[in-house]
Amino acid sequence: MTDTWTVFFAFFVALIALAGMLRFVPRAPRSRVRRAVILLGLYGVCTAAEFASHWLHSRPLSEVLHASAELFQVLLAINLGALLLFDVLLRAVRLPVPDILYDVLLGAGYLIAVAWVMRHAGVNLAGVVATSAVATAVIGLSLQATLGNVVGGLSLQLDDSIHPGDWIELENKTQGLIKEIHWRHTVVETRDWDTLIVPNAQLVGQTIKVLGRRTGQPVQHRMWVYFNVDFRFAPSDVMRIVDDALSGAPIDGVAAEPKPHCICYDFARDGRDSLAYYAVRYWLTDLARDDPTSSRVRERIYAALRRSEVPLAIPATAVFLSKDDPERAERKKAKIVGSKVAALEAVDLFSELSAEEKTQLASSARLSPFSRSEVITRQGAQAHWLYVLIKGRASVRLAADGSEREVATLEAPSFFGEMALMTGQPREATVIAETDVECLRVDRHDFEGILKKRPEMATEISRILAERRVGLLAARDGLDEAARSVRITSETKRILGAIREFFALE
Ligand code: CMP
Repeated sequence: MTDTWTVFFAFFVALIALAGMLRFVPRAPRSRVRRAVILLGLYGVCTAAEFASHWLHSRPLSEVLHASAELFQVLLAINLGALLLFDVLLRAVRLPVPDILYDVLLGAGYLIAVAWVMRHAGVNLAGVVATSAVATAVIGLSLQATLGNVVGGLSLQLDDSIHPGDWIELENKTQGLIKEIHWRHTVVETRDWDTLIVPNAQLVGQTIKVLGRRTGQPVQHRMWVYFNVDFRFAPSDVMRIVDDALSGAPIDGVAAEPKPHCICYDFARDGRDSLAYYAVRYWLTDLARDDPTSSRVRERIYAALRRSEVPLAIPATAVFLSKDDPERAERKKAKIVGSKVAALEAVDLFSELSAEEKTQLASSARLSPFSRSEVITRQGAQAHWLYVLIKGRASVRLAADGSEREVATLEAPSFFGEMALMTGQPREATVIAETDVECLRVDRHDFEGILKKRPEMATEISRILAERRVGLLAARDGLDEAARSVRITSETKRILGAIREFFALE
């Protein structure tokens, strides 16, 4: 009877322990807990069957059932012990044990348990060991390759060289993300949405490059983005233009440190081409997004070079046949000026100008593209020009009290950068390209010329300026509608006075 109570007690304790583990160890692999539940079930079934067999008065049957119950009981105890030790205690002190080592230790525990139960049941162990040694040798020989993989997997996990979540490059240059390390193989997901099943023995037998890993540093991988520029442009200028564009505003996926930078790494190759070879080197923070990030870096390079009127090189072997007479050049120039005039006409600011004045302003204005997320004007900077927004969307942001917030969005056609230009004060806000943006850059000097000829323009400008300025004040100090309109009237007057004084207008 005492035996019965012990069994029920053990059953009860195991049930409580499992329930506790399911509750407190949600990260314990479910299969381990499931295995313990199955063993508990088998133990329960054998124990119940053993009780039932007493009524059948079959002694051999009860003995077998008793030995089976005992075996499951011991296996269950080993499982619970392993769960408690590896999944609760060692995890709590941040000492995770690799899955394969876990399985090996558990397997060894099972072997000892089986031997113990067999001895307890009166089985001759020496005989069994002798037969199984021969069997093991035969199996070992036939499973050589598999064993190599198993040992490979074990060593990969034990020496901690690669883990799930690492980006690796194999010797055949395939790159991928390690998902799982199994007994026999390692699962690697490639950038092309494919899955590689690499046998562990192969993995330990080659040099694996773990991408972006460096002791004590964040995980980031150096990337190269290549481009070419004609010899007509000095490498120092090209590199400065690109470096300025790269440091102007962060690019999603590009590490801040080390800073992205441009180098000129070669001149004409084989004396055939007339261009220099450049590259931007940057550090990629999200290794899964290599191509999209390089693409954004290219957008930044392209816009910066176009802004500075530095074209990307055309292969020297390309042959152009065109009649380059002065008439044609004139027609080409007139076409460009025409499109700039159209851009000026799209904003009210210049509506009062005559056709001739517009053409004059358009001839000197410069086309300035920006790639998305580039800073076009920076709060606090000195102003040298204003921008007419021809294409795209830009965000106006105000930094105050240590944080930055958006105060307005400008959609083409529009203009900005006039505030500082009109008053001589530093830029009032930062304007960032939200999409790829095309601007026409009007120089302070040219604008001043127009303003001097047309002083009446100052009235319209001061009204727009006052509205925008009050918009900034409202964002900073939280003005209501009534306070806003009073403020706009007083600001219009004040700004008009300031513009007249600054430009010495009549
Ligand atoms: P400036 O101060 O030269 O540089 C930043 C520009 O952002 C500024 O000129 C204006 O053109 C623009 N800006 C500032 N505040 C606003 C606003 N509330 N609405 C629209 N544009 C604004």
